Amino acid sequence: MEQVLVVGAGFMGAGIAQVCAQKGLSVILNDVKQDVLDRAMEQMAASVAKLHSKGLVSDSPDQVLARVSTSAGLSAAAQADWIIEAAFEELELKLELFSELGRLARQDTPLASNTSSIPIGRLAEAAGHPERVLGLHFFGPVPLMGLVEVVKAPQTSEEVFERGAEFVRFLGKTPVKVGRDIPGFVMNRVFAAAMREASDLVAEGVVTPEDVDIGMKLGYGWNAGPFEIADNAGLDTFARINVFLRSMNETGLVPSHDLIERMVKEGRLGRKVGKGFYDYDAGGKRHPRSKKN
Ligand SMILES: NC(=O)c1ccc[n+]([C@@H]2O[C@H](COP(=O)([O-])OP(=O)(O)OC[C@H]3O[C@@H](n4cnc5c(N)ncnc54)[C@H](O)[C@@H]3O)[C@@H](O)[C@H]2O)c1
Repeated sequence: MEQVLVVGAGFMGAGIAQVCAQKGLSVILNDVKQDVLDRAMEQMAASVAKLHSKGLVSDSPDQVLARVSTSAGLSAAAQADWIIEAAFEELELKLELFSELGRLARQDTPLASNTSSIPIGRLAEAAGHPERVLGLHFFGPVPLMGLVEVVKAPQTSEEVFERGAEFVRFLGKTPVKVGRDIPGFVMNRVFAAAMREASDLVAEGVVTPEDVDIGMKLGYGWNAGPFEIADNAGLDTFARINVFLRSMNETGLVPSHDLIERMVKEGRLGRKVGKGFYDYDAGGKRHPRSKKN
């Protein structure tokens, strides 16, 4: 059985680990915090049970979860056939991780990053044997979303780029190949431009988040509005992406107002903490933001 090491067990890493295990791969899920690993396993169990009950996953939750083990260290990199990094969106952290993973992994093991905004070539430089480094940009929630951008850095070999697209198809998802290694790739550049305008209009008091979301769904056929997407993704992750995009002078992709940064300071991180642009009840149901909290 092929083995996958997933580095970072947050919203994205846990989802990536889950879809790999659902397809029969053996998965080591790594994070620096044991409580994050424990929570990831609990969330995975609940998600697989739900998908299994709807007939969307044929193996039982026990069978799927038996393929996942957790580790606070990276030694599993030496045996891994695929390594997918999904740690915080911070350049220095990812450079350190790619340098270490590059040292530990076999030379032919593809090293993928799920980064939202950092050019893959920067990570490839840190890893040694840069031809094996690529972007696999999953969309969240990973068990439900069908798209993965496969990103080729200038250093990525054609063979690894092709293997990336094949791996995505094996996971039951659709690859979109991105042949130019630019910050935010394609989909996040398009989304960030929409989000920049939407959050500036909200910050200026022109419109509410709910009305923008309704408008984008009814007017443009989006399945979810930009503020629903932002709450699901985590506003702290959005703030980290903004820091990196600003450092690259990608001002067209970053809001002019600091609305998201202020919300992060107030602890409004989105769905995972029960409050963001919306409030969420214990059952996860979304409500317009209450003025009280
Ligand atoms: N949230 C989204 O919708 C989304 C979508 C696509 C891509 N991404 C990208 O995926 C990555 C992860 O995002 P997320 O939303 O899962 O963030 P998250 O905050 O939910 O999880 C990040 C995890 O990384 C862990 N971590 C930090 N340092 C680490 C280290 N040295 N080794 C191992 N783990 C470490 C943290 O403990 C945390 O659990 C980011 O690069 C982000 O830009 C996010």
